[in-house]
Amino acid sequence: MTPGNRRPVVIASNRGPLTFRLDDDGNPTPTRGAGGLVSGLLPLVTGTDTLWIAAAIGDADRRAATEGVIEAEGVRARLLDIDPDDFRAAYDVIGNATLWFVHHGLFDVSRRPRIDRRWRAAWSAYQRVNDAFAEAVAESAPVDAILLVQDYHLALLGPRLVALRPDLTAVHFSHTPFAGPDLLHALPRDIRVELLEGLAGHHACGFHTARWARAFRHACDEDGVAAPATFVAPLGPDPADLAASAASPACTAALGRLDETTGDRQVVVRVDRLELSKNIVRGFLAFDTLLDEHPEHRGRVVFAASVYPSREGLPEYLAYRQEVEATVRRVNERWGVPGWQPIVLDLSDDYLASVAALRAYDVLLVNPVRDGMNLVAKEGPLLNERDGVLLLSTEAGAADELASAASMIDPCDLGGTAEALHEALTLGRAERTRRAGELRRLVAARGPAEWLADQLAAAR
Ligand code: G6P
Repeated sequence: MTPGNRRPVVIASNRGPLTFRLDDDGNPTPTRGAGGLVSGLLPLVTGTDTLWIAAAIGDADRRAATEGVIEAEGVRARLLDIDPDDFRAAYDVIGNATLWFVHHGLFDVSRRPRIDRRWRAAWSAYQRVNDAFAEAVAESAPVDAILLVQDYHLALLGPRLVALRPDLTAVHFSHTPFAGPDLLHALPRDIRVELLEGLAGHHACGFHTARWARAFRHACDEDGVAAPATFVAPLGPDPADLAASAASPACTAALGRLDETTGDRQVVVRVDRLELSKNIVRGFLAFDTLLDEHPEHRGRVVFAASVYPSREGLPEYLAYRQEVEATVRRVNERWGVPGWQPIVLDLSDDYLASVAALRAYDVLLVNPVRDGMNLVAKEGPLLNERDGVLLLSTEAGAADELASAASMIDPCDLGGTAEALHEALTLGRAERTRRAGELRRLVAARGPAEWLADQLAAAR
């Protein structure tokens, strides 16, 4: 699939390259799936014979799953119709409410997690989901294939395949941070060991930064699990794909709407899933502090925030959404005047509108409390047309590559973030241009092709 690689490739991930909806006659029709993984990998696998195995998520996906391997939109995909209760328990309770929380350090440990009977039942469902993927891979993978397993939903796949298909080489890649021993101790020892042995049962494990790879090896050491080979392969956006989105009429129309809202004011932008680890509330509180401490910005800057709802099956996310909306209301009530609304919150999941916002920022705020990589921090500089400044959390994986040209912020430091916003909004033209150019150069150094090549190299 890439020059020099002659072994067939199979990808396994929870979210797949195709998502289906039912047409007027009740037939499932495919469209391209959502998310960064899909947009990065899809152009690379399109037109190749790579097989992509993923979970069926909605009802239309489940209908499509009965058709076996589907060829559409230039890709070959197989969706798995996993028992809906098992899927929900594995995705909500284990994937999203436990593993995501552990790796991002999101647990308020005085209360959570609670490893009770319900949780253990969900863990069994997680094991069965990994079994189902292993069986599907064993059935469908060509002889001697390389299997690229993506993310925490499928941490137990490797060892299951060793028995079923010893000819395959399975590589696991984590798009999240890795917890490290201290955070991982939120889980009981038997679970930790099963998780670490699951990952270690792959030929190699990849991470976006050396920090997450180190944390994984350290966690293995602490629990006496023999760590496999690890590798570091930062993912970057595909410049051609972004340019095509930016050039689309819908994006230009969205840019026109944004310009109407902001007028000739400066624009602070953020683009995120509505996600706890993205630190959205603190971002608004830092903006509030900016307006409080630097009155010269009142009336002169708009914070355009695109945050699209996600994982709404979890109470934590519903509560967080309310907190986000209440914070925006408070800040707008405190500072807003007729003709100027300080924060414009867009909750719609409109990809091209968020691309438009990235074209137009003076300052891009990327302040996660912890993030495996954060592709927005890289997409922004490629798309931006104003030589905007990137404010980047030290805790984002992207910090490793971009720290020399971004303004680095500590994500919990509201005063520090407010000062960084002030400095960015008042930075001289020449320095903005220099930094924006440097950011573009750093980001352009690696795209999805290099990232994929690193995974294939790790299989050798
Ligand atoms: C992160 C994870 C992905 C996941 C995506 C969206 O980027 O690393 O594996 O697909 O979030 O989350 P969702 O739960 O909607 O798939």
